[in-house]
Amino acid sequence: MEKNTPVFAALDQERMQSLRALPTPCYIIDEKKLEENGQILKEVMEHTGCKILLAQKAFSNYDFYPLLSGYLSGTEASGLYEARLGKEEMPEREVHVFCAAYKENEFDELLKYADHIVFNSPRQLKKFGEKAKRKGKSIGLRINPLCSTQEGHAIYDPCAPGSRLGTTRESWDREMTDELIDLLDGLHFHTLCEQNADALEITVKAVEEQFGDVLPQMKWLNMGGGHHITRTDYDRELLEQILRSVQEKWRLQVYLEPGEAVALNAGYVAARVLDVVENSGIRTAILDVSAACHMPDVIEMPYLPPLYESCGEEQACVSYRLAGPTCLSGDVIGEYSFCRELREGEVLLFGDMAIYTTCKNNTFNGMPLPDIWKLGREGELVPLTEFGYGEFKRRLGKRWKSARAI
Ligand SMILES: Cc1ncc(COP(=O)(O)O)c(C=O)c1O
Repeated sequence: MEKNTPVFAALDQERMQSLRALPTPCYIIDEKKLEENGQILKEVMEHTGCKILLAQKAFSNYDFYPLLSGYLSGTEASGLYEARLGKEEMPEREVHVFCAAYKENEFDELLKYADHIVFNSPRQLKKFGEKAKRKGKSIGLRINPLCSTQEGHAIYDPCAPGSRLGTTRESWDREMTDELIDLLDGLHFHTLCEQNADALEITVKAVEEQFGDVLPQMKWLNMGGGHHITRTDYDRELLEQILRSVQEKWRLQVYLEPGEAVALNAGYVAARVLDVVENSGIRTAILDVSAACHMPDVIEMPYLPPLYESCGEEQACVSYRLAGPTCLSGDVIGEYSFCRELREGEVLLFGDMAIYTTCKNNTFNGMPLPDIWKLGREGELVPLTEFGYGEFKRRLGKRWKSARAI
């Protein structure tokens, strides 16, 4: 995964030392980097009049919501709990929700938190739309322009053949009635993943070709996430051009809801080397952090997280496979080269670890959840969590309160 960003630029020797002194494994969220990302996104809003939301599925460490609310227009949720979190922790900003299918027994509560509700299908719109409208909500339908702009990663491509996400024009023509269209305030699409503005340009053309007759009736168009706006090689000028032209042409409000771009390179994972084993010429350093439990996208995407002090193969004298301590053979973070041998007990630092990590981890094998620390503006380190055995036990049964030392 090419990020093109100075992942560790904010860390001088002193700061690096203090991170290495933390109990491992742990996540560290970099407040200054979040601010820098927020400032970039705010400028896009100021230059274009678009509104940008935080997609909480990528980053939902709510201790930073007061900071982010100074830069963003609100939060985007994938369902009831994220909607509630957005409403509770960024109450003065908008709450948008998109879910592939809403549940009847949750919908009334959802109406308490969400301002914008986006449905995935005409059937769901028919089932819940009027009720939401009566409660004064802004209603949207997710469309699927069937325009794949990414290579590989079918698991992350909502436009892949047979995708359940979004209403195609064919389904629209078959299922949308005038009454259903009247309920709509906006359209939503989400088709990108870690992409640049050129992919958005292609997608907008596809949307226009397929839904250009509908857009004049809409008040807003939500262009989803996957815009890597805060990456150094991102073409912000082109993005702003697209946003301005769409808003002018269709006289509507554009929303973007990136997750990654908000917290890109704003987090680290500190992990300790527990042992080094060798088999068939492959040296593996076993760490106290697990790819499967603590950085699952490393396996799912897959991608190789940046590692401080690893080096290019040309300068390397030794390579290691870095892996987790669980029973899963594939609990492997990746192959890294170093200019020196790794020592048992030393602490390694992975970069770009704020996104799709703390909100996606699990306790498989009874692995502890790594605690989360804030790296503040002045370099101060503040613990945000105190995870322990309780987090593991209480998700598995009823007597979790009796989590006591024996
Ligand atoms: C509907 C929707 N919006 C926003 C996002 C955030 O995308 P990203 O974190 O890649 O910007 C996603 C990610 O899957 C999504 O499904």
